[in-house]
Amino acid sequence: MYPRLFTPLDLGFAVLPNRILMGSMHTGLESRPDGMARLAAFYAERAKGGAALIVTGGFSPNAEGNLGPHRAEFSTAQDAENHRVIPRAVHDAGGRIVLQLLHSGRYGFHEQIVAPSAIKSPINPHTPRELTAREIEQVIDDFSRAATLAREAGYDGVEIMGSEGYLITQFLATRTNHRTDEWGGALENRVRFASEIVRRVRAAAGPQFIVVYRISALDLVEGGLEAAEIQTVARAVADAGATLLNTGIGWHEARIPTIAQAVPRGGFAWATRRLKEAVSIPVVASNRINTPEVGEAILVRGDADMVSLARAMLADADFANKAKAGDRPAINICIACNQACLDHYFIGQPASCVVNPRAGRETKLVFNPAPKPKRIAVVGGGPAGLSCAAHAAERGHEVTLFEKAAELGGQFNLAKVIPGKHDFGESIAYFAERLKRGGVRVMVGKEAGARELAGYEEIVVATGVDPRTPPIPGIERAVSYVDVLNGKVQAGRNVAIVGMGGIGFDVALYLLERDSRAPYDPAAFAAHWGIGNTPAPAKPRHQITMLKRSHTPFGHTLGRTTGWVHRAELARNGVRMLKGVEYRRIDERGVHITVDGKERLVEADTVIVCAGQTPRRQVSGHLIGGAKEASELDTKRAMLEGAELAARL
Ligand SMILES: Cc1cc2nc3c(=O)[nH]c(=O)nc-3n(C[C@H](O)[C@H](O)[C@H](O)COP(=O)(O)O)c2cc1C
Ligand code: SF4
Repeated sequence: MYPRLFTPLDLGFAVLPNRILMGSMHTGLESRPDGMARLAAFYAERAKGGAALIVTGGFSPNAEGNLGPHRAEFSTAQDAENHRVIPRAVHDAGGRIVLQLLHSGRYGFHEQIVAPSAIKSPINPHTPRELTAREIEQVIDDFSRAATLAREAGYDGVEIMGSEGYLITQFLATRTNHRTDEWGGALENRVRFASEIVRRVRAAAGPQFIVVYRISALDLVEGGLEAAEIQTVARAVADAGATLLNTGIGWHEARIPTIAQAVPRGGFAWATRRLKEAVSIPVVASNRINTPEVGEAILVRGDADMVSLARAMLADADFANKAKAGDRPAINICIACNQACLDHYFIGQPASCVVNPRAGRETKLVFNPAPKPKRIAVVGGGPAGLSCAAHAAERGHEVTLFEKAAELGGQFNLAKVIPGKHDFGESIAYFAERLKRGGVRVMVGKEAGARELAGYEEIVVATGVDPRTPPIPGIERAVSYVDVLNGKVQAGRNVAIVGMGGIGFDVALYLLERDSRAPYDPAAFAAHWGIGNTPAPAKPRHQITMLKRSHTPFGHTLGRTTGWVHRAELARNGVRMLKGVEYRRIDERGVHITVDGKERLVEADTVIVCAGQTPRRQVSGHLIGGAKEASELDTKRAMLEGAELAARL
């Protein structure tokens, strides 16, 4: 009776695209004045790219459920009218789209938040107000009214957000639900809120309307649901009329990474399998599915009926069509950095993508054919140069890229050896392929000087950075992070790291890798982080001390959604961190410092300098990336500057 979303399982990428759901992402455009038009363009590109079903970012069915002070709400006829452009654009592109209804409960960052019980979340300064029984009925009606409005707006359905620790999960778990009425206590009472929402949404919106329920396949918090209880919830929402069961992993307050680089590809599909065993409606696997082969393997194993790709769809809008064509080298792979997507939420910027800066800028960053093709030299084959050369060539320019080193990639070649950053190697391969297809003349092992650059109409300087050497007596005894990461130097047992920016953290993780990193295997990851058990003990091979001059908090330059994972990993391996340090000298015993007015020796047989970079600029021209500004390595800015310059040339 409900719409069919997929065809029978087959073994090639030819079937995978029909099973790809684009996972929900709040882009930050939802509450902007030009947001609807920009979202329409954003989703239409992904529908054109072959996604079988798209889920919008979360919209609240009422005012209390808003995530932040900005209104991302879907509760009025005017909201439905404003949204019309979105489903229309997606349908015109041949796709289908459902609106996600997300009530934040105690996770909202404003004063009006509500929850089943007045219990504050550890990640929110605000305490929620306890809902009365009458208000609970009203919230359920708000969901069903929003679903009716979504149908009127032209959406194919709704997704009811019941995972990640938002309101519905707060009703389900004893951690957050201390009620003694019919909405609390035994599981059959706690599940009533979820199943009533699905039931009333189905009743209001009719049998043809797609009702996706996003269930928490794993809560990963104390007082969350056990596996058997989650299966009970799955059965309840399926019986209430859900078309599809999508999955989410972990509450936001969980201290186990769920989408960061530390998570193995497809690392939670095993939890989806448990749900598939419990219900007969199709089940969707989610999180860190970033390549077609990972998605395919999940389907072939029978862990799920569909796969959800969220960030992978930011990185490449045409993922599904490319997979369908078997054109794996043409897929721009998400590197799970979170820098331009999830981290943007916390700094109030619209979501985009490091490796695809056009994401979220579909109406602004436009690559029209060049009116007059030019001869362009791009000097430097790191992220900035790759991005610029690829886009410029695709616009029709005649592009030559000079790279001094023997291979393309620049700083990505260092990054790809760091735990969790192996996908950076995918990016280099992808851009190299794109240059080839775009007809870029690539000159590796070739330094470009005045002679080589003669005759070019435009010169792009993307020469990157040189590591900075701080003026510390005895610094010649220290080694650069570059030599450690490229394997020229083997660190001893006692290591001091001078500098605690992103690279300092990366180097520390790299040194600990063989002993402490969760390998890229879901079972080892689960053991490492203590999923269903206590975490495996760390056995660090190095005693590491990290030092920095400033008094700012440790790792304050790291991303909001990933920094805590790195800090937890280093803490677990006994890495010491000292801030407010004055360097006196480095000698054979280690680093002599003054800290808190006291002189100290940090014993070290290897001292590694990660004290920033300086721009490398041997030639003049359009400066982009590290050559323009080198304070902190910034791939996001580098790739964006490369793309923006290419659009202007
Ligand atoms: C920028 C961003 C915004 C997100 N917003 C939502 C949201 O509004 N609702 C939701 O259910 N999940 C949201 N998510 C989580 C994704 O749906 C998905 O679970 C997560 O990114 C892991 O899947 P992936 O590895 O395919 O990206 C968001 C993720 C990102 C990166
Ligand atoms: S910014 Fe990073 S994590 Fe986000 S979609 Fe792009 S590559 Fe993936």
